[in-house]
Amino acid sequence: MRVLGIETSCDETAAAIVESDIGADGYVQLPGRLVSQRLLSQVDAHALYQGVVPEIAARNHLAHLDRLIAGAMADAECGWDDLDAIAATGGPGLIGGVIVGVTMAKTIAMTHQKPFIAVNHLEGHALTARLTDGVAFPFLLLLVSGGHCQLLSVTGVGSYELLGTTRDDAVGEAFDKSAKLMGLGYPGGPAIEKLAQEGDETAYDLPRPMRHRPNCDFSFAGLKTAVRQVIESWPDGEQARQRYADLAASFQAAVAEVLIDRAQRAMTGFVERHGTGHGFVVAGGVAANQYLNSRLRGLADERGFTFHAPPLALCTDNAAMIAWAGLERAAAGLEDPLDFKPRPRWPLDELTAA
Ligand code: KG4
Ligand code: ZN
Repeated sequence: MRVLGIETSCDETAAAIVESDIGADGYVQLPGRLVSQRLLSQVDAHALYQGVVPEIAARNHLAHLDRLIAGAMADAECGWDDLDAIAATGGPGLIGGVIVGVTMAKTIAMTHQKPFIAVNHLEGHALTARLTDGVAFPFLLLLVSGGHCQLLSVTGVGSYELLGTTRDDAVGEAFDKSAKLMGLGYPGGPAIEKLAQEGDETAYDLPRPMRHRPNCDFSFAGLKTAVRQVIESWPDGEQARQRYADLAASFQAAVAEVLIDRAQRAMTGFVERHGTGHGFVVAGGVAANQYLNSRLRGLADERGFTFHAPPLALCTDNAAMIAWAGLERAAAGLEDPLDFKPRPRWPLDELTAA
């Protein structure tokens, strides 16, 4: 089975083709194969505004998407007849961009008589570890991106149980806002990670919001405020680079400890229901952070989970994850009608299950 995927929900314009064999039992064989992908990052177009400007993003998607799809098709030496379905991010995301991708996918699907699949962007992040590492259901998922911070139990395609979520900022948002306070560019996550390598993570005693609370929820707004207070406490003219590096490292360590504490609670409940030996998957843009990953890998080892984080290029937004989730849904017979309406908000636990 071969599927074309399109991603346009934020500031990356991307097209990719993935494939997988289907076993005699009708199930998708894991892992899958990424055949080709083309991605245009719009980071430079938005950097001036220190954040994504929805209208600029939508116009850029419209200007470049057809060329990127043609490129991915050419790289895969693939014709329309070789595809089994056309998938696009149907939400959640910036509505202008989602409309561009969905309209493109529907048009290709209608013209070439192929099934159309509207993929939930978060399901794309969630299932990537099945494409790359062949992670079996059920698994525990920590989804950490610019818009989300959630712990989910994943028991099948479209089958998600929300265990905990953020009460205010998403973790990527906390990185981006703190980076802005530190005078670093956008996106803030990679900038903080880089600067933190030169810093002392014990330099500043930042709060660990929600730690030891009897649920799996997160909160990051207080951490960002604490970062601001530290910066404001510095005497004028003494904002030396080393101070920022120490603050970046202290911030990252605080985030790690919160994620570990919350994931630990989720693991206890997950093991009670499903036993040990399952996967612990970290996905979403923040999963590109190697420091956080090494801390979370340690937790997984301790608790009897196998650890999986997608390779860097598949952590941040991309079309391979959309193509793959589309393939898993198509294989399960979950296609969408051509009058599907793009959904700016679309929680994972509202998906149709296989
Ligand atoms: O998944 P993604 O590409 O877009 C969303 O769906 O949100 O995630 C983008 C987020 C941004 O907030 C960015 O700062 C964060 O992921 N991010 C990182 C790193 N790379 C990207 N955060 C921490 N460390 C990183 N290395
Ligand atoms: Zn994303």
